[in-house]
Amino acid sequence: MRYGYFDDQNREYVITQPDTPLPWINYLGCQAYFGIISNTAGGYSFYRDARLRRITRGRYNNVPLDEGGRYIYLRDDESGEYWSPSWMPTCRDLEQYTCRHGMGYTTIGSKYRGISASTRYFVPLDETLEIWQLTLRNDRLTPAAISAFSLVEFCLWDAQDDSTNFQRNLSIGQVEIDDEVIYHKTEYRERRDHFAWFACSDPLAGFDTQREAFLGPWRGWDKPAAVERGNASNSHAHGWSPIGSHHVKLVLQPGETHQIVFVLGYHENAKDQKFDPPDSQIVNKKTVKPVIARYRNKANVDAAFEKLRAYWDGLLGVYQATTPDIHTDRMVNVWNAYQCMATFNMSRSASFYESGIGRGLGFRDSNQDLLGFVQMVPERARERILDLAATQLPTGGAYHQYQPLTKKGNNDIGGNFNDDPHWLIIGVAAYLKETGDWSILGEPVEFDNQPGSAQPLYEHLRRSFHYTLERLGPHGLPLIGRADWNDCLNLNCFSDTPGQSFQTTTNKEGKVAESVFIAGLFVLAAKEIAAIAQRRGLAEEAKNYLASGARMEETVRQHGWDGEWFIRAYDDSSQKIGSKENAEGKIFIETQGFCVLAGIGLEDGRARQALDSVRKHLATPHGIVLQQPAYSRYYLNLGEISSYPPGYKENAGIFCHNNPWVIIAEAMAGDGDNAHDYYSRINPSARERISDVHRCEPYVYAQMIAGRDAPTHGEAKNSWLTGTAAWNYYAITQWILGIRPEYDGLRIAPVVPERWQGFEAVRKFRGVTYRITVRRAGKGNGVSLTVDGKPIEGAVVPPPAAGKTEVTVEVRLG
Ligand code: GLC
Ligand code: GLC
Repeated sequence: MRYGYFDDQNREYVITQPDTPLPWINYLGCQAYFGIISNTAGGYSFYRDARLRRITRGRYNNVPLDEGGRYIYLRDDESGEYWSPSWMPTCRDLEQYTCRHGMGYTTIGSKYRGISASTRYFVPLDETLEIWQLTLRNDRLTPAAISAFSLVEFCLWDAQDDSTNFQRNLSIGQVEIDDEVIYHKTEYRERRDHFAWFACSDPLAGFDTQREAFLGPWRGWDKPAAVERGNASNSHAHGWSPIGSHHVKLVLQPGETHQIVFVLGYHENAKDQKFDPPDSQIVNKKTVKPVIARYRNKANVDAAFEKLRAYWDGLLGVYQATTPDIHTDRMVNVWNAYQCMATFNMSRSASFYESGIGRGLGFRDSNQDLLGFVQMVPERARERILDLAATQLPTGGAYHQYQPLTKKGNNDIGGNFNDDPHWLIIGVAAYLKETGDWSILGEPVEFDNQPGSAQPLYEHLRRSFHYTLERLGPHGLPLIGRADWNDCLNLNCFSDTPGQSFQTTTNKEGKVAESVFIAGLFVLAAKEIAAIAQRRGLAEEAKNYLASGARMEETVRQHGWDGEWFIRAYDDSSQKIGSKENAEGKIFIETQGFCVLAGIGLEDGRARQALDSVRKHLATPHGIVLQQPAYSRYYLNLGEISSYPPGYKENAGIFCHNNPWVIIAEAMAGDGDNAHDYYSRINPSARERISDVHRCEPYVYAQMIAGRDAPTHGEAKNSWLTGTAAWNYYAITQWILGIRPEYDGLRIAPVVPERWQGFEAVRKFRGVTYRITVRRAGKGNGVSLTVDGKPIEGAVVPPPAAGKTEVTVEVRLG
C-alpha cells in the first residue's frame, strides 16, 4: 500500500494522506540554519547545532508521535469553526490534502469548507531564517472572513537543558515585541549574543507570546483558546514558555487569493553592540531589521525560492542517469543524492530518531558520508576533512564524535574505536580522486585542536595507518578496542550493570580481542595510502604500505577464514566470532562485504564463496541481515549486539549501511545481476508499494529494516541519518553504473544486470561534463570506450585538453 507518489518531474514526493504510518519528514536548510519538517508541519529548527542552538522546541517520543511544529490555524470568523491546513494539530477531515517534500522545501496544501490553503516552507540560501509562505484562496461563492494564526514554541536554546532544567527555565523566558515582530531573547541579558525573531508580512490583529495565554489552561495545541475565541490576547511572556503567534484577519472575496508570509529567524549581534541604547536591556535591532524588511516583501521571497531551486539543480546535475530501472533513476538523480547532503549536514544529530541532543558529528560516520557528497560540494568536503582531522589524537586515534558548533572532540564519548582512524584515509582518498586537489595534503592541521601541534594533513593519514600497526593482537589481526564499525560488538566491555552505556563505560585494556573487519579495512586503507604516497613521490613509503597490507591479507587468509566465509572477530578469550563453531552468530555480513571490497579473496575463489554464503544464510527479500543465527540471549562477552531482541538493529536486523558492501563486492566479483538485485531489495523507491510494511519514508533510506527473526520483518526504522545513504550512492553510481573518479581520469566500468541493454549518464567531473552512453553488445562486463569519436585503450577516460569542457563517451559493454 502507498501513501503518495513520486513526482519525478518536479523532484518531489507527494504524500496524499496525512496519517502516514510514521512522520514522513524533510529537511529545510543546507548551510547554517536547519529544520526538520514532517508531512503535517511538525518538527523544529536550529542554528548549526541541534543541541546548543535550538530555536524551536521538539518533544521526543511524544503522543501522537509528531506534535509541535510550524503550525498555522485558520478560523472561519462567521461560524467560529477552525482547522489546521497541515492537518495536525486539529486533525479535521481535510479535503485534497497533499504534502510535497522537495529539494530543501516542503509545501503542505489542503482544502476545508471551501477555503484552500497551501504553505511552502523553506530556508533561503545564505540566510539564517525560514519562510512560511501561506497562500489562501476562497473557493466559496460568498465572501469569507478568515483569521489566520501562526504558532511556534521557542526552545530556550540548549535543547538538553530546555527539556530537563525546569526549576530555572520556567523563570527565565523573555521576549520583546517591536513593530509587530516577536523577538525571543531568553538569556540575551547575560551571556548570549543571539536571539530569534518571528515576523509577518501582513498587519496584525494581535499576537501572543505566552503559551498559556494562547492555549488557555489545560488545553493542548489542538484547541487553543485564542483561536477558538478568534482573538489573540497580546500576551507578553515573562518566564514560563515563550511562544510566537501572529493573528491576521482578512476577508476574501469569492475566487480571491491572498498570500501571507511568516518568517522565523536567528540573529547574532556583536558582543559590544547587544543593546540599543547601549546602557539599556533592549535588543539592538539595527542589523536584523534590514533582513526582516527584505523578507516581509513577497517579491524577495519568490526570488529566494528560485535561487534555492537553482542551487539544487546545480548539485543534482553533477550525476544524472537514465537506466531501464525507474527506482535506480529516482534514487541516483534525486533522492539518494539529496539524502547524502542531509547526512553531510546533520551527520547523525537531528531526525525523528536522533534527538539532536545525544550525538554530534561522528568521526567514522562523517568520513564515510564524504563518499556520497564530495562530488556535489567539494569545497565543503575539504573543510569537513580538515575539521575531522583536527579532532584526531596524536596517537592517530580519534574522538568518536565532535560538536559542530565548537568543532572540538566530544570527551563524553571518548575514543578507542579502533576502526575510526582508517576512515580518514578512505575519506581523503575519495576527495583526492574527485577533485585532484593535492594541496589538501599539505594543509597544517592540529591534533586534538591543540595549538602548536599542527602537522600537514598527510601526517595525519600516516598516523591513522600506524595506529593499527601498533595495536595488533595474538593472531596478528587488529585489536578491536571499544568496537569497530559495529558499535555494538563490544568485546572488551563486559557490562553487567543496568543502564551502563556500552559505548562509554570503562573497558578492559583489551590485548586479545581482534577484529577481522578492521583487518579488511586496513587492507583497503593500505592500498589507498600507498597510491597517495606513490603520487607524492614517496615510492619507498608506498612500498611499505603495500607490504603491510599484503601481510594483513595473508593473516586474514590464515586466521580470518572459516572455510566458507570470513570470520568476524576473536573475543577476549581468543574464541572465534562469526564461525561455524559458534551456536549463534555463525556468519556476519561485515567481513564478507568489506574483505571482498578490499580485494581479499578475489583471486583465490574465497570472495565468490563468501558471497554465496551471504546469499545462502543472510539474504532475505527485504535485504541482507547482519548475522545469523540471531543472538537469542545476552552474552556478557559480546556486549550490546546481544542486548537487542533478535531481528533488530545489529542483532540480525537488516542494517542497511552494510548491504552496499556486499553490493560492491558482487560488482567487483563481476555479478551485475546479484549486485542490482541486492540494491533493489533495500531501494526505498522499490519498496514504496509496501509502504504499510516498510512504514518509513519511501524516498530515503533507513538505518534498519527488521530482520527475519523479528515479528515485524520488513519494517524500517531510523530513516534519513545513516551511512546507508552514502554507501548506496557510492555503490550504484561508482560500482554498478561503474562511473568512477580515479586519480588519472574517469573510469567507466559498469557491472549492470545482464538484461540491461544499456543506459545513459551525465557526469560532471573536475570541470568537465562527460556524456556517457553505454550499449550492451554481449554478455559480461568487458568494455571498449570511444571518446569523442576515437577509440581509447582501457577503461579510464583521461582528462581532455585544457579548455575543453564537454566530452562524449560511448561504451560498448560485453
Ligand atoms: C550507527 C553508527 C555507526 C555505526 C553503525 C553500526 O549507524 O552511526 O557509526 O558504524 O551504527 O553500529
Ligand atoms: C547504539 C546503536 C548503534 C549506534 C550507537 C551510537 O549502539 O545500536 O547503531 O551506532 O548506539 O551510539
